[in-house]
Amino acid sequence: MKNGLEDVIAAETQLSDVDGEAGRLIIRGVALDHLVADGTYEGVAALLLDGLMERSFNEVELRDWLAQARTGVFDHIKAADASLLALPPVDAMRALIARLPDGEDFDTALNLLAAPAVFLPAVLRLQRGEQPIAPDASLPQAADILRMLTGKLPTREQTAALDAYLVTISDHGLNASTFASRVIASTQAGLTSSVLAALSALKGPLHGGAPGPVLDMLDAIGTAENAYPWLGEALDRGERLMGFGHRIYRVRDPRADALKGALKPLISTGQVNSARGALAEAVEAAALAILRARKPNRPLDVNVEFYTALLLETLGFPREAFTGVFAIGRTVGWLAHAREQALNGRLIRPRSVYIGPLPAAA
Ligand code: CMC
Repeated sequence: MKNGLEDVIAAETQLSDVDGEAGRLIIRGVALDHLVADGTYEGVAALLLDGLMERSFNEVELRDWLAQARTGVFDHIKAADASLLALPPVDAMRALIARLPDGEDFDTALNLLAAPAVFLPAVLRLQRGEQPIAPDASLPQAADILRMLTGKLPTREQTAALDAYLVTISDHGLNASTFASRVIASTQAGLTSSVLAALSALKGPLHGGAPGPVLDMLDAIGTAENAYPWLGEALDRGERLMGFGHRIYRVRDPRADALKGALKPLISTGQVNSARGALAEAVEAAALAILRARKPNRPLDVNVEFYTALLLETLGFPREAFTGVFAIGRTVGWLAHAREQALNGRLIRPRSVYIGPLPAAA
């Protein structure tokens, strides 16, 4: 029995393949670096959902339908009460999504793709005492998210960077949240229920909750010279270095390089805090050196969350919202897996081994 179910095959999927030895991610037959180059959120969403819904569609149609769906779900913000808005952003987002109708149909899926993109910027604005900004149906989803967050039209490089992020994290094999989505789908509870379960799994620090702590770590380290000793002391205390290590990858997470690449146009146009970028590079190098020295038997490398932290901070998201942005991108993967499970799967119902006491003999 393996406590973490590592190496257990629990589903067949046509959606994505994570090759942990080669450091390769394939989404529906396309390698990650091809998808990210000029890829858009709507493009990868259409690719992932293709053939899994009751109607077919393409990137262009999806862009229009999603824009309309964003406008529709914005009404739910008006009904959001103060107690809900006092929650951490990802919890407030989850509570708002829980108010959406459940079902297996295309409109439910569209609303679920649009809702996190609308709810997260609105919650963040309300929490800092600002009015939420209504969606602009003429914009693609990535640009509209940034506009709803800041009130300004994003630059071309900012939109491209968010698109690259959303594409990069759209799907990733049978990770914990995707497995949760498939378990719920196997009971035929509905797509909203699947997304809620998945979002609950995502927020843990061992899964999608790591990038906020990555920034905390960069802040605590402060200077490049302090990186090596600070990281050594953290390991001495038995802490894990956030943004490093992975259950599947034994080499560098290819998504880390995709995001590092997505930052380049922002760096070359002066849109990244250069001191922050240099500190991140120094911390990455120090962490890799120290992890290799301290854990020679376990190949540990940088994972997706390390450069997520830098990218999302650069785009203006506060660190407490990073898990919510992850959810905006990953919802399409959860939906695609839920549909795949519902169409082809059986009820997921594994067994456990009882190791408790037996009743006393009469
Ligand atoms: N820092 C220090 N040591 C680590 C780390 C780390 N980040 N990750 C693993 N190790 C060590 C661990 O202490 C153990 O050492 P030992 O054998 O001496 O006890 C060894 O590596 C194996 O650890 P494990 O717990 O069996 O590994 P796992 O497959 O359960 O861990 C992980 C995967 C992601 C939970 C872990 O690497 C971790 O906690 N990383 C930090 C949090 C993080 O960055 N999470 C985001 C993951 S990527 C997003 C996603 O795809 O969901």
